[in-house]
Amino acid sequence: VILTQDELKKIAAYKAVEFVESGMVLGLGTGSTAKHAVDRIGELLRQGKLTNIVGIPTSKKTHEQAVSLGIPLSDLDSYPVVDLAIDGADEVDPFMNLVKGRGGSLLREKMVEGACKKFVVIVDESKLVPHLGGSGLAMPVEVVPYCWKFTAKRLQDLFEDCGCVAKLRTTGEQPFVTDNGNYVIDLYLKKDIDDLKVASDNILRLAGVVEHGMFLDMATTVIVASELGVTIRNK
Ligand code: A5P
Repeated sequence: VILTQDELKKIAAYKAVEFVESGMVLGLGTGSTAKHAVDRIGELLRQGKLTNIVGIPTSKKTHEQAVSLGIPLSDLDSYPVVDLAIDGADEVDPFMNLVKGRGGSLLREKMVEGACKKFVVIVDESKLVPHLGGSGLAMPVEVVPYCWKFTAKRLQDLFEDCGCVAKLRTTGEQPFVTDNGNYVIDLYLKKDIDDLKVASDNILRLAGVVEHGMFLDMATTVIVASELGVTIRNK
């Protein structure tokens, strides 16, 4: 059998939900993979196989999905410690560092997933990369709209050595606007970043930057679904 990419995402998602126990405060991820996990949690609640769950959604979209499934929701103000978060990723490197945010939800994802005891990442094998940001794909940075061109230029200059091109993310003719009312600058790199931690610090030091999509040393488990089966990597 040849499985579609969406079927692989679903397999990884269902595997992750096996880690969910009744009574947990759960970080609910965003994107096409996490959507399957949220659906599954809703299903188990409906069947009475899970009880007493509190979901902390990482986006307005996931909030809507969870509401439609009847999953009880709250936020980090009320639950500053999250037991377990389940979310997808755009890239996963061999050290379990991630790029996230191609769906634009990086800030809330980083807040929720930074507050959790366990962070389970669910991906199909297409997301595995030898080095973050090296695949010619976007490295997203959420910025305030005020003088975004200035911020984009500073970001591009920061990664000049990597042949960086910074582009404003758009939907049609308009800037893409995040759940927090901000813009996203996508960084396209021709060369790998040497030191991800230094890069992260340098980006965050720029006034105008809100957050970036590198999730370094945050994942505690990565579940990878491929044609050959599911592999689980732990920190
Ligand atoms: C949302 O902003 C992202 O971080 C997603 O979690 C990530 O893009 C993975 O999405 P897919 O599961 O749709 O690939």
